[in-house]
Amino acid sequence: MDRIITLNEVAKHKNQSSVWIIIHDSVYDVTSYLEEHPGGSDILLEVAGKDGTQGFEDIAHSDDARIAEKIQSWSHRSY
Ligand code: HEM
Repeated sequence: MDRIITLNEVAKHKNQSSVWIIIHDSVYDVTSYLEEHPGGSDILLEVAGKDGTQGFEDIAHSDDARIAEKIQSWSHRSY
């Protein structure tokens, strides 16, 4: 369900035990995706608790990655 998530709340999720990343104004809980990410966990941990849109766009993610980004059930819209 959509809900408003503050930057303060996202900033708390920056450790391996709970990793949230903002991409295009949505918040993603990527904790369980860390080891699956083809780009590796380190790069996701670098933007943990922060906005990772720039990094996400810098590598021109494929349509597959974009669809995965959109359909993940752990996404929450933030405003
Ligand atoms: C939920 C968010 C994300 C998803 C679902 C995702 C998914 C993927 C997928 C499927 C690939 C394989 C290549 C492709 O299909 O485009 C990939 C590669 C990569 N991703 Fe992500 N990604 C996410 C977030 C990020 C972020 C935030 C960063 C950087 C800050 C990042 C950096 C990279 C890099 C550097 C690669 C390239 C790996 C290589 O070619 O060696 N990704 N990602």
